[in-house]
Amino acid sequence: MKAVRLNELGGPHLLHVEDVAAPQPGAGEIVVRIERAALNRRDVYITQNLYPGIVLPRTLGSDGAGTVAALGDDVAGPPVGTPVVIDPDLGWQPGERVPAVSGSILGMPANGTFAEYVAVPARNVYSKPAALSWDEAAAIGLAGLTAYRAVFTRGRITKDDVVFISGVAGGVQTFVLLYAKHVGARTIVTSGSAAKIERAKALGADVAIDYNADVEWHKTARKASGGGPTLIVDATGGETLARCLDIARPGARVVTYGGTRGDATIRPFAIFWKHLDVLGTSMGSPEDFAAMLALFESGLRPVIDRVYPMAQAAEAAQRVLEGKQFGKVELAIA
Ligand SMILES: NC(=O)c1ccc[n+]([C@@H]2O[C@H](COP(=O)([O-])OP(=O)(O)OC[C@H]3O[C@@H](n4cnc5c(N)ncnc54)[C@H](OP(=O)(O)O)[C@@H]3O)[C@@H](O)[C@H]2O)c1
Repeated sequence: MKAVRLNELGGPHLLHVEDVAAPQPGAGEIVVRIERAALNRRDVYITQNLYPGIVLPRTLGSDGAGTVAALGDDVAGPPVGTPVVIDPDLGWQPGERVPAVSGSILGMPANGTFAEYVAVPARNVYSKPAALSWDEAAAIGLAGLTAYRAVFTRGRITKDDVVFISGVAGGVQTFVLLYAKHVGARTIVTSGSAAKIERAKALGADVAIDYNADVEWHKTARKASGGGPTLIVDATGGETLARCLDIARPGARVVTYGGTRGDATIRPFAIFWKHLDVLGTSMGSPEDFAAMLALFESGLRPVIDRVYPMAQAAEAAQRVLEGKQFGKVELAIA
């Protein structure tokens, strides 16, 4: 089969297509024939040696949608040919509040979805929401799940929330906007260019601020929120997270799942004086994944940035590296 392989570290340009042996389903596994795969920043970090536990050579890719191709001897279903999506969180067992095995994610060290076939545990394979196209179904795995847990499970969003979303064009943050609007909450977002600001408004952002054009974006956001956001979802980290804590309304929830811009020096005063709930989150549980899929049966549509042919995986990853995307960057595999 054809697979996008990484044989050495040094950047996205090292991703290339190779012929490798197709996987056979082991005990408890299903082999999925991939139609579409989606990139995450994680894939780029791996090519740059900025991720723990890298093993090479490997096929990258956490997100994929396709059809069931083969079942392990002890696996009862779903039947061959069923359209499915993959939950890339391999370590989180049903019923666990937090995973006992953290960071076990499809695509490293297990070979991933940037290939014609991938073998995954049967319990990570779910029926594809019928309402979604292949492109849309491939988008939701890692990013949709992370956003779901951030917004609903950890953030406990309600329609009365004023939600602040920093860097809204990111693969995960576009889902945060989608979910917040679905609930009916008011949204204030930031992004890094005029074009992205227009895109965010078209997707329903109530207030959109260009953080490059408005260096005091946090003050603008606080003013627009009428006393500070009640729910903040951030993955930028660094000075952005510090400012998020400063503008949060007393009693607000501040959810963080990443640190794209590095570490933050935060002021404890902002947390304790305002009784903030600062909540960490990573990926999501099997229960989160199932609840997210139900949402996508009800008409929500993931935001797709661009779909590249498999042979252009390096260009696709370069686009993510440079932060040019709005939503998910994908690979057409089939
Ligand atoms: N813990 C987890 O489970 C988990 C899961 C997924 C992702 N993550 C982490 O979350 C982060 C985002 O992941 P992703 O896949 O969504 O990446 P992505 O699509 O590459 O998005 C990058 C994000 O960084 C934002 N950004 C860059 N510079 C910024 C700045 N100066 N101020 C505000 N925002 C800025 C971008 O906003 P604009 O383009 O709008 O400017 C965009 O939201 C990464 O650090 C990733 O490792 C963690």
